[in-house]
Amino acid sequence: MIARGEVTVPGDKSVTHRALLLAALSDGRCVFTSALAAADTRATAAALRSLGVKVGPLADGRAVSVEGRGLRPFRPAAGPLHCRNSGTTARLLMGLLAGHPFDATLMGDRSLSRRPMARVTEPLRAMGATVQAAPGERLPIAIRGGALKPLQWRSQVASAQVKTALFFAGLVGGVRVSVTEPLVSRDHTERLLRLVGARVDVEGTTITVEPVESVPAFSGEIPGDLSSAAYLVAAGLLAEDGEVVVKNVGVNPTRAGFLRVLARMGAAVEVTNRWTSLGEAGATLVARPSRLTPAVVEPEEVPSLVDEVPLLACLASRAEGGWTSVFRGVGELRVKESDRLALVASNLAALGVRARTEGDTLFVEGAPAPPRGRVVTAGDHRLAMAFAVLGTVPGAEVELDDRRCVAVSYPAFFRDLASVVHAS
Ligand code: S3P
Repeated sequence: MIARGEVTVPGDKSVTHRALLLAALSDGRCVFTSALAAADTRATAAALRSLGVKVGPLADGRAVSVEGRGLRPFRPAAGPLHCRNSGTTARLLMGLLAGHPFDATLMGDRSLSRRPMARVTEPLRAMGATVQAAPGERLPIAIRGGALKPLQWRSQVASAQVKTALFFAGLVGGVRVSVTEPLVSRDHTERLLRLVGARVDVEGTTITVEPVESVPAFSGEIPGDLSSAAYLVAAGLLAEDGEVVVKNVGVNPTRAGFLRVLARMGAAVEVTNRWTSLGEAGATLVARPSRLTPAVVEPEEVPSLVDEVPLLACLASRAEGGWTSVFRGVGELRVKESDRLALVASNLAALGVRARTEGDTLFVEGAPAPPRGRVVTAGDHRLAMAFAVLGTVPGAEVELDDRRCVAVSYPAFFRDLASVVHAS
């Protein structure tokens, strides 16, 4: 198999959600180019519109505009806000709604309705919001915000969604919020907040955001999504010949653990043409066929690659045999769009790879035989894309039970993959 070509991946999902939501709080018109037009970010845009904020259409190749309405921008919605498959939409919106003095209800699809929300609802209650959740502290959730108290919070999980929800609540409520995380998680929010003039202090894993008088309108280009680029990079590594170039990719260090682990696995990935936009570093990635060695991933680095573990596990299955890759501290994968920990192990096993979990650790053995079998995605976009890439290995026969779920974060994934992967 040859992988050759140049691709520009869609805009970063995390940065797109944040830019749209923060723009709603601004004093004017914000315009973002290269924003992600996918199901998850459309859920955020639709929720904003239901709350009275003017958001233009999110479409490929078109800039999206948001008419900011000041620090408390929302009007009550006519019905429940449907967050669909998007945990970021649900959690970040809860933060913003906590500062608004009216009732709102959030719901999600089946996958989102099984994901834990206590990590956000508990601190929002501590700030003074009234929150009622379904059993197990899940969606649907009814929230009534109002006057908020300052917060000092120690989060049990290293989650950028949690800290962002709380910082957003602090902005709307006009109060100081300080969050201590067990490990550093992605810092896109902190960067955007600094960009709009907010004071953000970081001491170890404690981040403090001071209230602001107002958020000036801001505009810019959203960098490409490293989590999407990762699949094309991986296809380039697994190929027998060629070179895959992925342009305009965000390489924020708190998010780029994937690249660091690849380097340790002996992968030939070049990072060139560095630039910055909206406070984020971007670059071009060039991937060439590589002989991979097994990976050892430690708990401290998991937040920086949390969405790439399924793909790294697939790559680990192609590492030279005889050694086992180890991913420690990956328990958070159980509560993503699916139980990714269990499904990565069972799907690799179904393809003839020795893989197993032990507590929060995942073990994957390199297997010389091409992977063959059927993959259960549970409608999880990242599982579908990771195993589709594994299916490009010469001699592989990987069948996915669902391909449509890639629309959650990367609607053009199969087209882009086919544009670089060619039979030799
Ligand atoms: C995200 C953070 C991560 C990640 C998710 C997007 C974000 O979740 O898995 O896809 O935009 O903040 P956690 O922060 O909860 O680990």
